[in-house]
Order: sequence, then structure tokens, then C-alpha cells
Amino acid sequence: MLSITPTLLLAAAAWLQTASAFPATTPDSIIGGKPGSGATWQGQKYVKIVVPPVQSDTGIKLIPDAQHPFVAPGPNDQRGPCPGLNTLANHGYLPHNGIATFEQLIYAVGEGFNMEHDLASALSALAILGRGNAYINKVSIGFASSEVPPLPGQIDGPTAGGLGKHGRFEGDVSQTRFDIGEGDYKNFQNELYDEFLTYVGRYGDDSPVSGNASVVTVKVMQEYKYHRFLQEQANDPNLEFSIARMIISYDEAAFVVNFFPNGTDNIIDTYTLGSFFRNQTFPENWHRRSSPGDFTFIQTAAANILNAHPLVPGTNQKGVWTPDAPLNTGSVSFTDVHLNIMQSLSSSLVQTEGLLRDNVNTLLQALAKPFGVDYTKVPPSGKPGQ
Ligand code: HEM
Repeated sequence: MLSITPTLLLAAAAWLQTASAFPATTPDSIIGGKPGSGATWQGQKYVKIVVPPVQSDTGIKLIPDAQHPFVAPGPNDQRGPCPGLNTLANHGYLPHNGIATFEQLIYAVGEGFNMEHDLASALSALAILGRGNAYINKVSIGFASSEVPPLPGQIDGPTAGGLGKHGRFEGDVSQTRFDIGEGDYKNFQNELYDEFLTYVGRYGDDSPVSGNASVVTVKVMQEYKYHRFLQEQANDPNLEFSIARMIISYDEAAFVVNFFPNGTDNIIDTYTLGSFFRNQTFPENWHRRSSPGDFTFIQTAAANILNAHPLVPGTNQKGVWTPDAPLNTGSVSFTDVHLNIMQSLSSSLVQTEGLLRDNVNTLLQALAKPFGVDYTKVPPSGKPGQ
């Protein structure tokens, strides 16, 4: 049996002296534990991630308020593929440099767009786990940044990537950017946006204020998204449209008709659409929606868009469309979507311990919550660095 003898105490004291003689940046593995298990790692300082309380102020509101005027991004500010987050950063609801924490993301999408807490938490968790650094609680809403170094020990590859890095979150069949296998997947494309407008012209509603065929409707999104799928199926020989990507991309179509409309009349016309997509600014006299938009609401809206032209998940393999093998249930169920997301996140996330593991668990739990999945049962299983 181990007893605490004076010799053992002396040995422990000597070990502690040796350990404290290391500079603060000593790799944790040298003094025990895995990378990131301690409070510092090669200049990175651990920041504990906490799911913030649900915001109580969730009614209609004029956005932006006087404290959040538009300020154009400078050359060193990060902006990326999400028109919602770019707009929030341009108005200072997110840090103007485009580097955000989990809590800042949840607050900003709640305050600016009335995105409900659990939906916002799940998206923000995916952002930090997949494309940020869960040890220091940061993600770039654009591309790789020196502000967001890779995870301790580079356990998920040599760069944190940022939300603009392809895979895990940024994906194929976007509304205003090409697929990575086809062209410029990073920047807003006028050519695609103009096509989007032609769909508003063909299928949109009339408005006495903005003109005939100027209102973006569910029908517009049904037809435009289907068109974009067919376009990429024909043009992108490596199209990847897994179940998670399919659902997330249709969720983003649902965001357009549920988070971008003016809360005063629930209308999104081409002026408002252009303000968000082209100029990445809130339109004049714009109000956020009058009730929080949650996961179930958005999934129902996304299903409504998808069901006009039902699709099966799949990939183009050397240009040949190949449906994916069924996952768990073989249907578009939320557990399959969650599983597929986990297949893309790095398995190394759950080979951690200590403080980093605490943050990873907090984020995995927040991500699983709206899907109704026990996060401990479906861990990340993807390749590091993808
Ligand atoms: C924390 C919350 C959010 C995160 C982490 C996030 C992240 C992203 C990412 C990575 C993409 C690129 C996906 C792709 O390749 O299509 C994207 C697209 C998009 N996001 Fe967000 N987003 C968030 C919230 C919002 C909100 C609140 C809105 C609307 C108010 C929004 C609207 C959109 C739209 C419309 C697209 C599609 C852009 C396109 O297809 O060209 N997002 N988002």
C-alpha cells in the first residue's frame, strides 16, 4: 500500500521544484498530462468555455442600435463565407477583427438576428471545434489568422483554418460562392448572386414598395437551391453533398427567409437581400425578427425548401454522381446529421484530457443538444487536420 513517507514528500518537493523551474511555456507533456491539459501551452493561455445563460430580451428590436454603426473591415480584419457573421462584425456586434469566442458568437447572433440560444450554441460549438481553437476559445470568421493558433500539440493539424476553410462547415452548393472543386469558394460571387436575383424575378412576390417580383419567398429558395445543386452536380467533378452538408446548406437557405426579413413585416426584398449579401450591413430601419428562431423552426423551414425537389446525399466521384450509403437509420434523421458532423470533426479532440478536454466536452454537449443526442455516445471520429 502507498503511504506518505518523508522520503516520498521530499521526492515530491524536488519534482515540484524541477517542474516550476520550467518556463510557463514548457510543453505539458514534459511535466505530465497531454497537450493542453494544463493552463498554458507554448504561449497559448487556456480560456474556460462556458455556455452563457439564455438571453431574456428576445423581442423585436431596431438593429443596429446607435452603439453599432457600420464600419467597413480593414485589411487585417477577418471576414468569411457567412453573410450573417460578416454583418455582425462590420457593426461591432462581433469583434471587428473577426476573431470571436464561443460566447461572443452566441450573444451576437441572438442580439442581431434573434437566433435562439441552443441553435446559436450548436453552430458556435461546431465553429470552435471544427475551425477554431477550443483551448483558447477563439475562431476566425474568415481564414487562418495568427490570432488563432492551432490546438496544443497541433493535434488537429498545423492550422486552425477559420470558418472559410473548406470542409466541416464551409461546403459545396453554397448560394453565392462556387464549390472548391469548381472555382472561387472563398469570396462572394456576383455571377451567382445575379442568378439568385433572376430566381427572385421569376418566382418572387410583388410588393407595392419594392416593386413586382422583388420579394424573396420560400418558392424562390426552393427553386434556386435546386438549381444550384443541379449546377454543381454538372460542374463540380468532386461535389460533396453528404447528409450533414445537405442539411446545413438547406438550413442556410432557411436563414435567408427567416433571419434576414425585416421583423416589422417579415418581408425580405431584393434591397434587404443585397444589403446582407453584397454590402454585409444591416439595411436602413431594419428590425430583427420578433421571436427567437430555434432549431426545430429552422429544420422545418429547411425541410419545406428541400421537399419541393427532394435530394439524396451523395458525391460526384470523378464526375459520376454516387449516392451515399445510408448511415444509421438511412433517412434524413437528426441523429444521422449529428453522426455525419462527428465523422468530420477530429477524433483527436477526445484523446485530450484536463482543461482542453473540459472545453471540448462543453462544446460537444452544446453541439449535440438540439439534435437530442447523448454527446458521450457519438464522439468525433474524423481525421485530424482535415
Ligand atoms: C454562430 C452562428 C453562425 C455560424 C458559426 C455560421 C457559419 C457559417 C458558415 C461557415 C457558412 C458557410 C457555409 C457554406 O459554405 O455555405 C455560413 C453560411 C451562411 N450563413 Fe452563417 N453562421 C452563423 C449564423 C448565421 C446567421 C445568424 C445567419 C443569418 C442571419 C447566417 C446566414 C448564412 C447564410 C445565408 C449562409 C449561406 C451563404 C452562401 O451560401 O453563400 N448565418 N455560415
